[in-house]
Amino acid sequence: MATTVRVAAAGVLLLLVLAALARAEDPYLFFEWKVTYGTKTLLGGVPQKVILINGEFPGPRINCSSNNNIVVNVFNQLDQPLLFTWNGMQHRKNSWMDGMPGTQCPIAPNTNFTYKWQPKDQIGTFFYFPSMGMQRAAGGYGAISVVSRLLIPVPFDQPPPESDHTVLIGDWYTKDHEVMARLLDAGRTIGRPAGVLINGKGGTQDAAAAAAEPPMFTFEAGKTYRFRVCNTGIKASLNFRIQGHDLRLVEMDGSHTVQDTYDSLDVHVGHCFSVLVDADQPPGDYYLVASTRFIHDARSASAIVRYAGSSTPPSPNVPEPPAGWAWSLNQWRSFRWNLTASAARPNPQGSYHYGGINITRTIKLMVSRGHIEGKLRYGFNGVSHKDADTPLKLAEYFNVTDGVFTYNQMGDVPPAVNGPLRVIPNVITAEFRTFIEIIFENPEKSMDSLHLDGYSFFAVGSKKTEFQVSSSIVFTATASRMGPGKWSPEQRKTYNLLDAVSRHTIQVYPRSWSAIMLTFDNAGMWNIRSNIWDRYYLGEQVYMSIISPARSLRDEYNMPDIALRCGKVVGLPLPPSYAPAR
Ligand SMILES: *[C@@H]1O[C@H](CO)[C@@H](O)[C@H](O)[C@H]1NC(C)=O
Ligand SMILES: *[C@@H]1O[C@H](CO)[C@@H](O)[C@H](O)[C@H]1NC(C)=O
Ligand SMILES: *[C@@H]1O[C@H](CO)[C@@H](O)[C@H](O)[C@H]1NC(C)=O
Ligand SMILES: *[C@@H]1O[C@H](CO)[C@@H](O)[C@H](O)[C@H]1NC(C)=O
Ligand SMILES: *[C@@H]1O[C@H](CO)[C@@H](O)[C@H](O)[C@H]1NC(C)=O
Repeated sequence: MATTVRVAAAGVLLLLVLAALARAEDPYLFFEWKVTYGTKTLLGGVPQKVILINGEFPGPRINCSSNNNIVVNVFNQLDQPLLFTWNGMQHRKNSWMDGMPGTQCPIAPNTNFTYKWQPKDQIGTFFYFPSMGMQRAAGGYGAISVVSRLLIPVPFDQPPPESDHTVLIGDWYTKDHEVMARLLDAGRTIGRPAGVLINGKGGTQDAAAAAAEPPMFTFEAGKTYRFRVCNTGIKASLNFRIQGHDLRLVEMDGSHTVQDTYDSLDVHVGHCFSVLVDADQPPGDYYLVASTRFIHDARSASAIVRYAGSSTPPSPNVPEPPAGWAWSLNQWRSFRWNLTASAARPNPQGSYHYGGINITRTIKLMVSRGHIEGKLRYGFNGVSHKDADTPLKLAEYFNVTDGVFTYNQMGDVPPAVNGPLRVIPNVITAEFRTFIEIIFENPEKSMDSLHLDGYSFFAVGSKKTEFQVSSSIVFTATASRMGPGKWSPEQRKTYNLLDAVSRHTIQVYPRSWSAIMLTFDNAGMWNIRSNIWDRYYLGEQVYMSIISPARSLRDEYNMPDIALRCGKVVGLPLPPSYAPAR
């Protein structure tokens, strides 16, 4: 009897599978997340409030394949509004699910909202985090791993790595995230991080104490392991290394790289990469180390990698981090895209021969810093972004932008004359499918890391320059920035126009510039932001609106029925649907 039922069930299942194959729909993965506060003592014995997902810190890893349909039902059990953004996920045609305050109404406390998105043609290592206020400083982040679809060759799977580990590293503050927001609101700073966490564990900066802990990772001699490393912190660039072991770089921000070998790698805030590590050392314990770069009072954290059966303690000679800028810049210059690797291409509609495409527009985004009523603000080109009560994307879709924002208040170049920062919702437009060069200039004395939602771009150049900024200048504009080495069209000769890695985040060294190029072929409203979270919070961000003139479902999805409404769009009738894709 039971057997018959099972056979029948199997038959039904087979039919369902066949039906699914016939529709050729990509598989669905469902997640249910309960987001709560919890108390953890992570560093220096200080208990603090952290954001947990299903009780976990960091949050659960999302494992999926290219093109899977990801459905995440988020139950907000915090006492504050919440949004999740998916760092590096391009959400083609679908900025509705990008989870930024400019694209979506916040999920109110004690309500739920279901994100639905697809890592369309993407592979690699990414992470998610809460995007509102300073919540990112309280955790709520986790890894996203997108593997190639079956039968699509991967340049390093012969044989495949023994296992695949996530290493989320980041600086950490012991201050409550709401306290940090209040400090910034009051015009004060958040100070320096208390330490570094590795997968939610810091414990101690003392390597000897780390050695007393159970190992975080285990190796079997002779095997190869993949480590997916992301800097999920809010301010500090980190250096990642494993005592005695080489790191073979295979993937970065969703692109397969040329597989060069490094002793250690700098990972800037918001960046992710994958390395392969051969367990080729005498069996024993080894330190895996993440330590801050370019800030005073360096901090580090260690974890133990243990060879199976080992009882040999790690050598106390923890490898030192590299020193200086030049090392970091040179390492960055060595990263190259593997042009022959067959994989999902990050920019399927763009050309791989990006060096041969004519630039139709150059946007120079210079970081602005100034004071409004004595309080520090950041911005680009004299405009400091603030969120509106109606998410920008919704105001645009319902055609009610009046009183919410005005397009193109920020110019493509920094203003020639110094003036006070303007604090407004900052939205600029770009013509659909145009190829644009963006230069980020960071005249500050601290590191910056810039991220673009919705896209992958070619990181063609980065340069440490020597231009001087007087400490008395509160707002820096072109005129005050004369000096050797500032960006000029001449600098294009130094670009990598052949095999720059296609990625979503680029670092900008202090008093330096970085250049990217991309085709704006993903219609929607996309956030460009500093990953340095106090800068983000204080306005160093801008939204880019890209509208397809065809107003077609070929180019952009309609607002989903489940989209939350708030501000001016509550109760408005739906605008006409985009035309069917042909
Ligand atoms: C909230 O969760 C319920 C139960 O899982 C689900 O049926 C509903 O669709 C969710 N609501 C939204 C807006 O996602
Ligand atoms: C690039 O990818 C190809 C195809 O998977 C692989 O055979 C080759 O070894 C890779 N090249 C480098 C330099 O990593
Ligand atoms: C994701 O995949 C990795 C590597 O295969 C595995 O170790 C991990 O347990 C998986 N995580 C989840 C939540 O499925
Ligand atoms: C780029 O511009 C040059 C000069 O205007 C023109 O000759 C060339 O055909 C253009 N190339 C492409 C690929 O459009
Ligand atoms: C948006 O509204 C304005 C009036 O406020 C109108 O002139 C314009 O045609 C509308 N645009 C669209 C696309 O409906």
